[in-house]
Amino acid sequence: MPRKILVTSALPYSNGLIHIGHLAGAYLPADIYVRYQRMAGNDVVFICGADEHGVPITIAAMKQGKTPQELVDKYYKTNRDSFEKFGINFNNFSRTSLPLHHKTSQEFFLALHKKGKLKEKEIKQLFCPEDKMYLADRYVNGICPKCGADDARGDQCEKCGSWLDPLSLKNPKCAICGAEPIVKITKHWYLPMADFQPELETWLKQKKNWKDNVMNYCNGWFKEGLRDRAITRDLDWGIPVPLPDAEGKVMYVWFDAPIGYISSTKEWAEKIGQPDLWKDYWQNPNCELIHFIGKDNIVFHAIFWPATLMEVGGYNLPTQIPANEFLNLEGRKLSTSKNYAVWLPDYLEKFDPDLLRYALAANLPENKDTDFSWKQFQKCNNNELADILGNFVNRTLTFVNKYCDGIIPPAKNISELDSNVLNEVVEISAEAGELIDSFKIRAATAKVMDIARAGNRYFDSAQPWQTRKTDFEACQTTLNICCRLIRTLAICFHPFIPFSSDKIWTMMGLDGNPSDEHWQDVAKEIDLAGIKLGKTEIIFKKIDDEELQPEIDRLEKIVAEMEQKNNVEGITLMPQISFDEFGKTDLRVAKILTAEPVPKTKKLLKLSLSIGTEKKQVVAGIAEFYKPEELPGRKVILVANLVPVKLRGIESQGMILAANAPDGLSLVTVDKNVPEGSKVS
Ligand code: MF3
Ligand code: ZN
Repeated sequence: MPRKILVTSALPYSNGLIHIGHLAGAYLPADIYVRYQRMAGNDVVFICGADEHGVPITIAAMKQGKTPQELVDKYYKTNRDSFEKFGINFNNFSRTSLPLHHKTSQEFFLALHKKGKLKEKEIKQLFCPEDKMYLADRYVNGICPKCGADDARGDQCEKCGSWLDPLSLKNPKCAICGAEPIVKITKHWYLPMADFQPELETWLKQKKNWKDNVMNYCNGWFKEGLRDRAITRDLDWGIPVPLPDAEGKVMYVWFDAPIGYISSTKEWAEKIGQPDLWKDYWQNPNCELIHFIGKDNIVFHAIFWPATLMEVGGYNLPTQIPANEFLNLEGRKLSTSKNYAVWLPDYLEKFDPDLLRYALAANLPENKDTDFSWKQFQKCNNNELADILGNFVNRTLTFVNKYCDGIIPPAKNISELDSNVLNEVVEISAEAGELIDSFKIRAATAKVMDIARAGNRYFDSAQPWQTRKTDFEACQTTLNICCRLIRTLAICFHPFIPFSSDKIWTMMGLDGNPSDEHWQDVAKEIDLAGIKLGKTEIIFKKIDDEELQPEIDRLEKIVAEMEQKNNVEGITLMPQISFDEFGKTDLRVAKILTAEPVPKTKKLLKLSLSIGTEKKQVVAGIAEFYKPEELPGRKVILVANLVPVKLRGIESQGMILAANAPDGLSLVTVDKNVPEGSKVS
């Protein structure tokens, strides 16, 4: 029996472009999973759309001098286009600003209201007297009450990750004009989450094979105890609350957005002329529901959304939530506001989509944050796609062209070597399938590359360049087997690098499309003898350093700017001291006489210094930044009256001054030629 699976990827906000972090988090792994499940014969619908409401949209629109509608129209088109060009094969990419979605969300709201599941509350809320509006969520900034960061947003502190109530911010400021808000009373509707907690906990407890990050997160929330959650806002952009006494109120974006999964499925069903078919994916208990998301979306998908579905009733609950961790870039957190990211449209101007798909799939942040670097990208392309997969395809097809007139030759006598490799790839492909099915897509990527490795090993052992001269039938058999392996590779690589897989298929002169093949018979006995190859070419070209340098430079420039800004703006001075207090420090110019590493340490150097009349011995933590041989003769500043301490058994009779530069320590020296022992003040 084929499985029925509804797969969703988090709806991206239409307030900016898609970057590699998004791709690695919620879209690429979902697409690989979906392509695989289809080839495994399952009935899969893959749903996404644009998240077009909420404060992220209105604030971005304001910054760009556009109306929210203009903004979402712009990003809807570009983002849909990026996904398409990357081969992210949604059945439907909808938008939450559509009437169908408004209607569906209002039905959900009313259903909860009718069942008496919503709580109405009058609450205090921040209001900007200048802009004459309530400051929901990100409309207010201030100091985080939990960690003290000074740039927390009303709904969340990015530094410590806490979810906040805008009223709890210290020193709140309107995000639009900077004015100090006042507190006013307003009415809102709430999901009484505490009431739902027991049912949610019971449901989540049954989930045995869910990822640790999701479970830990939820258990943390349960432990703290769920609290009422407002699902309405005082804003003029959003879905109107369908109640008579709700003038000017719209739904909270995180209430309506996940309902977008349902309305997008409805839209898909309408588009294919079977308007009721959506029910088969949402209300048929035999359908699995799988939400691919990034870790910042866990609470919404694993707690609030299931609660909504449970209380409305009649809908499937999530079967699995494969939440990914974050992808860093060249060792740093991505930052959209600082433009520290690789945006999909920019990438596509320079490179093929498959190269990034492969580099990300091989490095997905499935269980921990991972790092994308252009060097790693280059390695994936040059050392794996080109040198392993490309090389195997190329050497085989070149032989077939040269020695067999471009026609796949017959396999006459199958030796043990031949059947071994055929059996080996049957096993590998089955294992790769199981890995994808259990959301271990990164491991599956490595597995599939193993098929190409096995192919190259086989080619090397069978030595067709020898047998060509000594035993042409054996040579033909080898090439026949290699062609079968290439067919297997085209199929198994299809979920990961669909464009290249299609290309290989065409080069092999095969009919149809690799995605039409069944994963189960991926390596079945199929004799390709007699097939005329199509036009062959090198599939993966090497990427050289010069091609990447501009990308690396661009990011380094942003880092330098960020650091400079930090240095200028981010200084917090220590409490004031008196002249007397400073005067107690005896600073002296000292000349370094000798320097040697302290054994078994990486950081320490033992220095002997002269302050004229006296010698001092100092152990300094500068070994990572200075070589011992470059130090003797330099004049540095010594704190000469510190109480001696022992470091690694060696007495240190003072400290030398160094500045904390972004790339390490930099010794403080004197400007003119000053005698040793001179006082510094
Ligand atoms: N727009 C949200 C984000 O980018 C994700 C929404 S997912 C859905 O973080 F559940 F709301 F659809
Ligand atoms: Zn204001």
